[in-house]
Amino acid sequence: MIRTKIIAGNWKMNNDFQASIELAEEINTKLKNKDLEHKRIIIAPNFTCLQTLAASKNLNHLEFASQNIHQEISGAYTGEVSAEMVKSIGVNTTIIGHSERKKYFNESAPILKQKVERAIENNLEVIFCFGELLEDRKSKKYFQIIEDQIRSSLFHLNHEYWNKIILAYEPVWAIGTGETASPDQAQEVHKFVRDLIESRYENEVADQLSILYGGSCKPDNAEEIFNSLDVDGGLIGGASLNADDFVKIIDAL
Ligand code: PGA
Repeated sequence: MIRTKIIAGNWKMNNDFQASIELAEEINTKLKNKDLEHKRIIIAPNFTCLQTLAASKNLNHLEFASQNIHQEISGAYTGEVSAEMVKSIGVNTTIIGHSERKKYFNESAPILKQKVERAIENNLEVIFCFGELLEDRKSKKYFQIIEDQIRSSLFHLNHEYWNKIILAYEPVWAIGTGETASPDQAQEVHKFVRDLIESRYENEVADQLSILYGGSCKPDNAEEIFNSLDVDGGLIGGASLNADDFVKIIDAL
């Protein structure tokens, strides 16, 4: 079966309102006349410009996602944004569980599970991030760590909700470090995860699931990573902030 290919740009806490609009327009212009029939391009900007970008008629090649949602439905959580709010501005996708959220905001597995619940209740698609720390890789415990991350936050879902899930393997040692997983390292984990999903759900669920790679993905290494059988695209941080680099990565898919 042909799985959907996806490149998602995670802009993190970069670009103010005007700069975000300009970058989105620049990327969109560069995508004109490209064959995007089997590719989705998703951008996760900061919350202040998400609605404007999502509502823009000009940005016809791009979809938009939030970088995060809160785990509660609503209430006294100053500074937070709910899944319902994201959905209400016409955004259909959210990233959940980025390693920076885990590191700086103490997002644990039970919290991520709640966030997944909130997203699914609001019919939001989830880009669920997982991946091991450097010490986990060195100690060879990474398969167990990755299995635990996926089991604890996603295995409660009934199989019909898996068409709302995109996975993103982001080895923490590769994020923003310039060090990237080798194609073999990425393929090994992606295959392991696809087999894990197959063991819990049906073959069809595992087969249609898009699994992205993220972590120092750049124009010069994207193609070899994307050539791996179980890598269906990328979640791009630093290189998504430059339109030329980002579009080169899209071309490599
Ligand atoms: P990076 O970030 O491409 O800058 O390593 C990836 C990510 O954090 O999603």
